[in-house]
Amino acid sequence: MIDLLHIRRSVRKFTEQPIEAEKLELLKEAVLRSPSSKNSNALEFIFVDDLTLIEKLAQCKPSGASALKTATLAVVVLANESQTVAWIEDCSIASILLQLEAHSLGLGSCWIQIRGRDYSEEKTSEMYLRETFDIPDGFKILSIVAIGHPLQNHEGKPFSDLDFRKIHKNRF
Ligand SMILES: Cc1cc2nc3c(=O)[nH]c(=O)nc-3n(C[C@H](O)[C@H](O)[C@H](O)COP(=O)(O)O)c2cc1C
Repeated sequence: MIDLLHIRRSVRKFTEQPIEAEKLELLKEAVLRSPSSKNSNALEFIFVDDLTLIEKLAQCKPSGASALKTATLAVVVLANESQTVAWIEDCSIASILLQLEAHSLGLGSCWIQIRGRDYSEEKTSEMYLRETFDIPDGFKILSIVAIGHPLQNHEGKPFSDLDFRKIHKNRF
């Protein structure tokens, strides 16, 4: 795992190469293995590989969604709010597991935040996605994970950039 963390960075530009079918299946398996509070099984995932639809996803907010412009796969991570109070945590864990699995397969990815973001002054990003992708009421959308083959190699953060003052021993 630490080897993967040494090289992990957010990737926002991808080649046109589609994601291989076997990698796609592993990404699906990874999210379904995600832990959840009280094993609530409240999560749902929309795997979008239709480029026209990914382009629609890219319009979900005026800035911060650029990674979706060239992604060949986008995964919308959402949860049935009535099944758990911990939907934010559950969706977050599934999102990062999906990213780490993507990176372990040689793909790149970027988390696109949806919760708390706006499409326009009148409409939240969640409302836009709900309308455009037929998402029923009661399902909360946390993120979209943009995935694809990275356009460039990315260096991991150098060890010297890590702020070990953030790590406290026994007491704050
Ligand atoms: C909760 C969360 C929300 C994020 N939202 C976005 C986003 O909307 N758009 C984006 O391009 N990157 C987003 N990111 C990626 C961060 O910008 C990125 O992780 C951070 O700048 C550190 O860079 P690194 O991932 O390359 O280490 C998000 C990351 C997290 C954890």
